[in-house]
Amino acid sequence: MDDFMIDVTAAERDFYGGGLILLEGIILEFLSCMEMIRRYQVSLGRSDPVSSWQARIKRASSMREKLRRRSLPETAETALSEIRDAAGVRLVCPFVEDIYRTADLIRAIPGIRIHREKDYIRSPKPNGYRSFHMVVTLPLRFLPEAPAEPVWLEVQLRTIAMDCWASIEHRVKYKREVPEQKLIVQELKRCADEIASTDLSLQTIRELIETLK
Ligand code: GTP
Ligand code: MG
Repeated sequence: MDDFMIDVTAAERDFYGGGLILLEGIILEFLSCMEMIRRYQVSLGRSDPVSSWQARIKRASSMREKLRRRSLPETAETALSEIRDAAGVRLVCPFVEDIYRTADLIRAIPGIRIHREKDYIRSPKPNGYRSFHMVVTLPLRFLPEAPAEPVWLEVQLRTIAMDCWASIEHRVKYKREVPEQKLIVQELKRCADEIASTDLSLQTIRELIETLK
């Protein structure tokens, strides 16, 4: 089992205060659920739909910046109630169809509520970004009673190739001093489209192997 450590610094402890345990709680509840869902799928003789995952609590500095951008007070309460990606989990799947399979498995988790879904695979962003996003809430079983306000979790589902693209694009986006921005954006879009077509070819190859078995 991957180890469920969530990395936070003194800045996050200071900013989120008592809210931090709720963010850690929803991430760990979700990950432990996912871990057993994956094992159960494998026990049924099906493939593991997830190849790796990452979890994070939004850095205090980027949360403050996001609140400021939205003209909201820079408090933990507002961060938890208004910003739906204070807690985030990214699930990286081998094939595109595994993303939709995982989304179905997530929807079937007892007590889960799906508040929003965005399919940037069927409708990619203009820059070429592709992923499937969900905002969910889950019962927090470690609390004697449910919190007054919901604790949101953003789940991002991507293929390995989409994840590779997004991490490179993210780096370029935040390096504004990079010259030839326009050319880079254009090239990144081209790569995203090539990756999407490769993802589909890989899936076809997998289906072919399955039928030959
Ligand atoms: P925000 O979290 O405020 O952006 O809310 P939103 O409603 O616009 O959510 P959206 O689903 O568009 O994006 C949420 C998250 O997806 C971001 O925080 C990123 O992690 C990721 N994401 C969205 N668009 C891009 C993109 O163009 N490039 C990369 N690398 N990541 C993206
Ligand atoms: Mg956004």
